[in-house]
This record gives sequence, structure tokens and C-alpha cells, in this order.
Amino acid sequence: MSILIDADPGCDDALAILLALESGLDVVGLTTVAGNAPVEDTTHNTLAILEFLDYDLPVAQGADRPLIKRQDTAEFIHGENGIRGELPDPSSRTVDESAAEFIVERAREHGDLTIAALGPLTNLALALSIDPQLPKFIDRVLVMGGAVAHAGNRTPAAEANLHADPDAASRVLQSADPTFVPLDVTSQAILRPQRLELPATARGETIREWLTYYPEDSRKQFDYAGSPIHDAAVIAHLTDSVLTTERSYLQIETDDSPSRGALVSDEFGVASEPANASLATDIDEQRFRDALRGAIETTL
Ligand code: BDR
Ligand code: CA
Repeated sequence: MSILIDADPGCDDALAILLALESGLDVVGLTTVAGNAPVEDTTHNTLAILEFLDYDLPVAQGADRPLIKRQDTAEFIHGENGIRGELPDPSSRTVDESAAEFIVERAREHGDLTIAALGPLTNLALALSIDPQLPKFIDRVLVMGGAVAHAGNRTPAAEANLHADPDAASRVLQSADPTFVPLDVTSQAILRPQRLELPATARGETIREWLTYYPEDSRKQFDYAGSPIHDAAVIAHLTDSVLTTERSYLQIETDDSPSRGALVSDEFGVASEPANASLATDIDEQRFRDALRGAIETTL
């Protein structure tokens, strides 16, 4: 299984990348997108995370804004410049291609690429528009995004990644048969640092900061028992099949309404439409914790 990670690091993106690499997944490259922070920052963070983990992989910088809407970032959750912890200033650089071009190239090269999309879906939407044949070369697309029965975390109706670029998400939904991994399950993807023996070193402290990235007031606001490592739930499904998924007819609200960015699932089949996507409905929390704990222990 060849995997491309499209991300906007982000503390939970950082742990997702750690999990993918330390679990031995065949990551063929990473692409970056504006999301938790402007794309220059998420790219810098991606390169720095790879050096922190001691991996040398191609990184392509992607979209600096959503297809249509104004950009919105989340440094108030993830920290200044979009990430917490002490990271090296990266010495590596991005490849020359844009993220969208890189996705198309890698998909055509591998023929059955898995894409783990951990930020707004702008890059993937652009890739689909430059190569409408792209779905033929993709095995599956897993997306951290949406809030179905769970309330939204960016607006009352919408989760941050889908709210950031609903038009791109809708484009991906129309042609890539994605699997959405919504807040309903990722809000349970929590690993408390007390369950780990993290050394009192800069490295251990950085990982502790990633695991506890939600500021106290946000954690209380959402009534979370710890900091959900949303994006790592997608990767843990690839390494350890931690999710239960079901086929569903999904829609994304793109109108300029209070529900813009909402993910709507036809749970009872009342729309009488065929399923167009998959939806994660449950997570094995113990397996998730074991997978992430094991990967962190490997990297220490
Ligand atoms: C998603 O939004 C970002 O802040 C996180 O990295 C995650 O991808 C959770 O809503
Ligand atoms: Ca993310």
C-alpha cells in the first residue's frame, strides 16, 4: 500500500505523520495545504517534523487558500505558526511541483495510491480538476473531516477541515468515493501522556506538547477528556483497522448559510440515493491508543 499524506501540521497532523512513518507504512510523499496555519507555515512544519523524525521524503507545497472562501486558520489551538514543541529549522526544501501536480504524478506512478487527507481538501480538488482520470489511479481516499451527529468545532454545524474549504470537499465527494472520518469518532482518539514514559528531554517534551495541544479552555468548551488526535485516527485505520465504516449517501453544504461546510449523512436512506462514500461510525479506542503509543515509543 503506497500512501500520500496531505496535511496542514498542526499537532495532530504531526502525530499522524509520526504514526505513519514509525509504523512502517510506505509513505511516498507529503503535500501541504493552508489550514491550521498559512501554507508557508504548514510546509515549514512538515519539513521540520520529517527532520525531527529523521525521515527524508519529498514534500510538495500546496494551496495557499481555499478554492472560493476566505482563509481561516487555527493557531489558537495548535500554537504559534501552527505547531507546538521544539522543532529544528529544516534544512530540506520542497520539490518544484505544486501539491496538486505531485498528487497526480504519484497516483499515476503507483496506480493504486492511498491518500490520507488531514487538512482542507483544496489540493485534492485541484488535482481532480487538472486530471479528471485521477480516481482511476487512486485506491482510496481517507479524509479527516466532518461532524455528523457530533456538533461542529468551527461553526455549530461544521468541522474545521470541511468548513475551511467546503467547495473543495464537495468536489472530492463528487468523484473520489472518499471515506470520511468525522469528529464523531476522532473526538475519542485521545492518548494521555500519563500512559507513556516520555523522557524529560526536548524530544519527549515536544511529543508531550503534541499530545496535549488543546488549550484548557478549548478542551473544556468541547467537553473533551484530553486532546483528540483527530488526524492520527485516519492513519491508525491504515495501520490497525481501528475504525468501523459504513456506506452512506453524503452531502456537503456549500451554500453561504449557517450550515456551510456541514457533512450530511442520509442514515435512514430517506433521500433514496445510492451510497456515494463511506463514513466512519466507530473507533476502537484501545487499539488506537496502542498503535499511537507503540509508534511514539519507537521514535523515542
Ligand atoms: C481537524 O482540524 C485541524 O485543526 C486538525 O488538524 C484536524 O485535521 C479537526 O477538526
Ligand atoms: Ca489537520
